[in-house]
Amino acid sequence: DRKIKIAPSILAADFANFGAECAAVEAQGADWVHVDVMDGHFVPNISFGPATCAAIRPHIKGVMDVHLMIAPVDPYIDAFAQAGADVITAHLEAGPHIHRTLQAIRASGAKAGVALNPGTPAESVADLLEVTDLICVMTVNPGFGGQKFIDLRTKIETLRRMIGDRPIHIEIDGGVDAKTAPLVAAAGADVLVAGSAVFKGGSVSDPAPYGENIRAI
Ligand code: DX5
Ligand code: ZN
Repeated sequence: DRKIKIAPSILAADFANFGAECAAVEAQGADWVHVDVMDGHFVPNISFGPATCAAIRPHIKGVMDVHLMIAPVDPYIDAFAQAGADVITAHLEAGPHIHRTLQAIRASGAKAGVALNPGTPAESVADLLEVTDLICVMTVNPGFGGQKFIDLRTKIETLRRMIGDRPIHIEIDGGVDAKTAPLVAAAGADVLVAGSAVFKGGSVSDPAPYGENIRAI
């Protein structure tokens, strides 16, 4: 039985308190911290960039999981690696050279992730498995937290079969909550990103709900 990791997305945290929010979710049982970078071009929203990642890094003991919803990616890889990202995930749809991008991420010292929009089929990563450490299956169209889960269990099952015994994580991002988490875990996911489902009801001064929410997932 594979151990499921919970990766709270700080997109749903208090933007004025990222350091304390990261420490709070970790203390409440988060395995990884998921950091959503948006450029207003690849996705219709803007969040923050490498300087913010560098600022929060000292407040995260474990894995900083950086999800880049930006295009282009390659000019910024070293900045995010320097900021202390452990995992850097780029979208397959963000440019014509995803294989090169994944190689460059590994060369930066980070683990290389590839994210797939809901409309991108599992088979599109078939020739990337040797340069990939994580496949992020988007179960919403990227850009915003709090959206409705899109049921892509067949895609997750297909990816799990394709991966075989390679040490590649399958991460699910979007609409993960206590209801949908068991479904995607059964389909083969092992890292579950959750924003609104983790941060709802709590705050840095009252972080206990984060722990309750994490345990409910
Ligand atoms: C969506 C982001 C997600 C988002 C998840 O573009 O990549 O990480 O924050 O938020 P919830 O869990 O609220 O769907
Ligand atoms: Zn994300």
